[in-house]
Amino acid sequence: MSEEIKKFKITIDGQTTEVLPGTSILEAARQIGGKSVPPAMCYYKPLENSGGRCRTCLVEVSKGSEADSRPMPKLVASCRTSVMDGMEVKNITSEKTQEARHAVTEFLLINHPLDCPICDQAGECHLQDLSYEHGVEATRTEFERRTFEPEDIGPYIKLNMNRCILCARCVLVANQLTDNREHGILFRGEHAEISTNLNKALESDFIGNVIDVCPVGALTDRTARFASRVWFTKPVNASCECDKCAGKAVLWMKGEEVIRVTARKDQYDEVQDWICNECRFHKKDVKRWNIEGPRHIDRHSVISLNHYQKPKNMINLLDNADAKEISEKDEK
Ligand code: SF4
Ligand code: SF4
Ligand code: FES
Repeated sequence: MSEEIKKFKITIDGQTTEVLPGTSILEAARQIGGKSVPPAMCYYKPLENSGGRCRTCLVEVSKGSEADSRPMPKLVASCRTSVMDGMEVKNITSEKTQEARHAVTEFLLINHPLDCPICDQAGECHLQDLSYEHGVEATRTEFERRTFEPEDIGPYIKLNMNRCILCARCVLVANQLTDNREHGILFRGEHAEISTNLNKALESDFIGNVIDVCPVGALTDRTARFASRVWFTKPVNASCECDKCAGKAVLWMKGEEVIRVTARKDQYDEVQDWICNECRFHKKDVKRWNIEGPRHIDRHSVISLNHYQKPKNMINLLDNADAKEISEKDEK
């Protein structure tokens, strides 16, 4: 008979939940949900070994565990710290945490350009959200910012190193999803930068996913750049027959035009099904897709300001039962 694993109790901002041993504080917070979930700029659940780089997820551990109730002396990275039984954690209820998050945000923005008005990521950028919540209006820095020229790294991807926060998610994608990693983080400390091996192009089959995992506008889709502001497009769930990936994607439509194709993401903006380059960059004809229906967008997102109006001829393309049901509902 299998022995039942004893779960650990953890209290975050006064709310208690139970998790399996080995769960991180961040994942426990996600289990609770709401405002107690710390922001995460480098942790990415679908990628092994992510996290521990950006420090936006710092929290205060006010009680270490039931066995040892002493608080932890320093704030800890919640994405890399495992829950102990009886642990008590403060996120939004901790002044220290909020102060640290302000400092981390300021640090992430030290070299960051004021590019939001011309940046393709605006409206779906985690750094933008973080700055609104924890940033300050003025900068204290007087020195010249580190600057790079935007670079085409292959036919599909544009690198704008000025906006990179060195979270390393794109490197993990290349390591874990493609056969051959062609880029990485070069140099160290202040000099660290994302670069390709001897100006190689990033072309391997699943490399387009780096665009989806990049929390900022450092890696953007060359086939969709500047085509539209994200809040002027309408995201729909769509699927297709594909022999390389599951073919489940999101089409970002403007009228009848497919502006860009991305992977589907969950509420924490983490990819649910990786998609291949063929689906992402080459299937821009709506006829190649089976439209499943509108994508749910969080009502706090700027993208939800856009309301759904299905292009008429798209309804003709809908041939599965779900889609018909959705179009009937829309017409009521
Ligand atoms: S990466 Fe984000 S914060 Fe930076 S310029 Fe683009 S939208 Fe603004
Ligand atoms: S390019 Fe994007 S994903 Fe890669 S390290 Fe920089 S911020 Fe992270
Ligand atoms: S999300 Fe935890 S350190 Fe970056």
